[in-house]
Amino acid sequence: PTSPVRVAVTGAAGQIGYQLLFRIASGGMLGPDQPVILQMLEIPPAMDALKGVVMELDDCAFPLLAGTVQSDDPNVAFKDADYALLVGSRPRGPGMERSDLLEANGAIFTVQGKALNDHASPDVKVLVVGNPANTNCLIAMNNAPDIPDEQFTAMTRLDHNRAMSQLAAKTGASVNDIKKMTIWGNHSATQYPDLFHCEVDGKNAAAQVDDQTWLEDDFIPTVQKRGAAIIAARGASSAASAASAALDHMRDWALGTPDGDWVSMAVPSDGSYGVPEGLLSSFPCTTADGKWSIVQGLDIDDFSRGRIDATVAELAEERDTVKDLGLIT
Ligand code: NAI
Repeated sequence: PTSPVRVAVTGAAGQIGYQLLFRIASGGMLGPDQPVILQMLEIPPAMDALKGVVMELDDCAFPLLAGTVQSDDPNVAFKDADYALLVGSRPRGPGMERSDLLEANGAIFTVQGKALNDHASPDVKVLVVGNPANTNCLIAMNNAPDIPDEQFTAMTRLDHNRAMSQLAAKTGASVNDIKKMTIWGNHSATQYPDLFHCEVDGKNAAAQVDDQTWLEDDFIPTVQKRGAAIIAARGASSAASAASAALDHMRDWALGTPDGDWVSMAVPSDGSYGVPEGLLSSFPCTTADGKWSIVQGLDIDDFSRGRIDATVAELAEERDTVKDLGLIT
């Protein structure tokens, strides 16, 4: 029998946590042969709610669930973790400036970065979901000097999946026929969903759509603002789709992407495509043997260049703010 892996989830009693934990425990992340131990982190006021979630996990009698840990101490929740999904964060409150938001989250992600550094498995794979995801990830990475940078990633897979579904609706294709979607840059309204390298039924997506007005005035803003549209419709932010994307991200990272396709992941830049080294930016990535690589050699035209530069400029600004706040060196 395969020995269990330890999966840490922060913000475990929140909306996304509630959608995520049951699917991880039923094999939705690492497959039907991989037992898991769930190590759940919350803040003290949410520990009762977390207890209720664990009671429900118990009541599912999942054959793959080999154990649970509940804690409000990151040093406990991250102990020997093989995977860490950092979902809990400080949401933007009324009248909160972006710098206040970055500072409030800085307090969380410096502590969690250090705890990962000191207690997680040396091979831990980290996915940051909690917003502002890219910069929270940058902070955690900077506070975990002993863990290789490439083990830190942030989530743009929900944006990627949203873009797939919009393109499928436009072209009448199935999502199964869409390959090589890319989200570039920040998980924010500046992100750039790119159809110029994407394929529908093996043919270039932008050429097949052949409608620059739709692309600029409909597709791109719809994907960029989808989160706000869900809040407006549902009265709460996307949770099931966010959890589903987090599973997709971790599964593909651990188990590999298929030939002829790639996924979007926010990863520390190596300078590819003019994105300054070290920024946590979304790129087209393939994965194999538990490691990601940025797809190389794509031609970037002027339109895409402008869009990528704009979202990367926002990432650089966020990085400068958290540097000024002393959250990263
Ligand atoms: P939620 O508010 O329902 O749950 C967040 C949970 O995190 C709460 O239970 C809270 O007690 C907990 N928490 C707060 N600080 C914590 C800490 N220091 N340690 C451990 N737990 C902590 O929020 P929801 O809907 O689950 O969303 C979570 C985050 O995910 C938000 O920041 C949201 O903006 C982000 N998000 C990111 C997406 C992406 O595509 N990257 C998509 C959707 C949401």
